[in-house]
Amino acid sequence: MRLRVSRYVFFQWRDGQLICDIPLHGRQVALREPAWELLQRLRDWVDPGTLDDPRRTLAEQLLGRRILVVEGSAEHRVEEERNVWRRWGAAATHYHLAARTDETTRYLSAAEDTLRLRDHAAVRPPPCRPATGTLLPLPEPPPPVMDLAEALRRRRTGRRLDPGRPVPLAALAALLHWTARPLHRVGLGDFGTAVLKAVPSAGSCHPIEVYPLVVNVAGIEPGIYRYAPGEHALEALPAAPPAGDELLRWCGDQTFVANAGVLLLYTAVLERTAWKYPTGRSYGSLHLDLGHVSQNAYLVGTALGLGVFFTAATRDALVEEALGVSWTEEVFLGLTGVGVLTDEEARRQRAMADGGPAAFSSPADAWDGLG
Ligand SMILES: Cc1cc2nc3c(=O)[nH]c(=O)nc-3n(C[C@H](O)[C@H](O)[C@H](O)COP(=O)(O)O)c2cc1C
Repeated sequence: MRLRVSRYVFFQWRDGQLICDIPLHGRQVALREPAWELLQRLRDWVDPGTLDDPRRTLAEQLLGRRILVVEGSAEHRVEEERNVWRRWGAAATHYHLAARTDETTRYLSAAEDTLRLRDHAAVRPPPCRPATGTLLPLPEPPPPVMDLAEALRRRRTGRRLDPGRPVPLAALAALLHWTARPLHRVGLGDFGTAVLKAVPSAGSCHPIEVYPLVVNVAGIEPGIYRYAPGEHALEALPAAPPAGDELLRWCGDQTFVANAGVLLLYTAVLERTAWKYPTGRSYGSLHLDLGHVSQNAYLVGTALGLGVFFTAATRDALVEEALGVSWTEEVFLGLTGVGVLTDEEARRQRAMADGGPAAFSSPADAWDGLG
């Protein structure tokens, strides 16, 4: 029999101790020096029979903790699979396993959760950040012009946009109203106030903030704005909008992005969700929240007859810097672009929805047109 360190354990120094995280088995152990020393030897297969007595005993303990695997065991075979986690690497594997739930996962009852939250109710972050600068009020959104089934049927990603035709201001107002504006406020006593929006949100925490980057919207100066949801207004940010190639760099060099009239840059304010959900699994819920926001933007844009795309192929750090946010508190997650489809693309999409030939909306310089 030979043993080596499992590929599914992760090491981290914390408070002067080497912690071994064994997320597949929901355990963490602090390692003492003899264990570190032995684990270094066991980075490759070792027959425990070749170890001296104390080290062999220690190896048995580490095997019992599932820090080691036995050559040829079922665990070893899984580790050797050329599966997706192998390609995505240690960080993704660790996060997934650490956030994954199993039959031992304990969920608090509503009463227990209320007690837990009561301890720190005073620090609940407000669901909407108050506006501090000069506000540009937005119009009330126009009534929907397409029924839901039709919008669902016609929703497509549109990448052939006409940069010369502005997005109407009313359309931007509608997009923000249905993705980010509070529609109701619920008083929660000691816990302050929660908001309800057209988009759902884990725990009604609504971590997503929307920063419209206006390129060509009728009646608004190009620039980077923050949507003030409580006021249904735009607040100009001091940063200059990205010029020329800088926008391409923000958006993973995707050339069609520059033809949008407006880009809705989405961030998540971490504390809003972390206040209620203290475990790392909640990081994933930020992305789930954003998916719901993005789909509303797609459907509203479709109902308004506009072209819509979403992208997360972005250079997050550049966008965060321009927005003046720090990844330790607020992270950029992706963006929705909205613009006026070229006449040809609008005709093609209509024909496809009505049974014509199907194809992706590829930008003019697409290399493969594979979506
Ligand atoms: C999470 C996510 C990320 C996406 N990223 C990109 C992207 O970086 N570039 C792009 O052109 N489209 C992107 N899209 C759009 C998809 O390519 C598109 O939804 C897919 O090709 C199917 O086409 P459809 O939206 O017309 O149904 C993304 C969509 C989602 C949901």
